[in-house]
Amino acid sequence: MAIRRILTYPEPSLKNVAKPVENIDGRTVSWIDDMVHTMYAAPGIGLAAPQVGLPQRIVVVDVGVDDDEEVERGKHLLRIVNPEIVEAEGESVFEEGCLSVVDFRAEVKRAARVLVKGWDTEQREVSLEADGLLAVVLQHEIDHLEGTLFIDHLSRLKREMYSRRVKKALREGRPIAPERSAGESA
Ligand code: NI
Repeated sequence: MAIRRILTYPEPSLKNVAKPVENIDGRTVSWIDDMVHTMYAAPGIGLAAPQVGLPQRIVVVDVGVDDDEEVERGKHLLRIVNPEIVEAEGESVFEEGCLSVVDFRAEVKRAARVLVKGWDTEQREVSLEADGLLAVVLQHEIDHLEGTLFIDHLSRLKREMYSRRVKKALREGRPIAPERSAGESA
């Protein structure tokens, strides 16, 4: 297992559409192990393969808590290969953050409930119904596979304000300070 570097906006490859995984082999499993390790180290509650430079349709998610129970890392870990949203209903607005969009959070409107299908690391088909935070994170991660960041769901004005802030920091050689304490990122 290795911790991989998380690519951040405006890295161009984050806009690419990821390729379906054709074989869940040892290499795929080792990529997934790296993703899980990288997600927990960040720390984050979800990670999509393109965020660590792997142009493959793989997501890992661990929203950690049910209700107010303490976080039990690993217990709620999901690793989904070729995930697809097959049903979506309702509407919900959540404040989102992204490990690839540092120092920014914003409310995004998404479906309230989703049915996601895909494959697990044992090459079994999986089908998962989700609502609440899990539904949000699954939609956020599957978006990454389409080259879509949560900021692409915002108004052009909001997105450009963020984009200008990042470009200015890059020009000045300043790091963009992560805003981790304000909430979880995926
Ligand atoms: Ni993200």
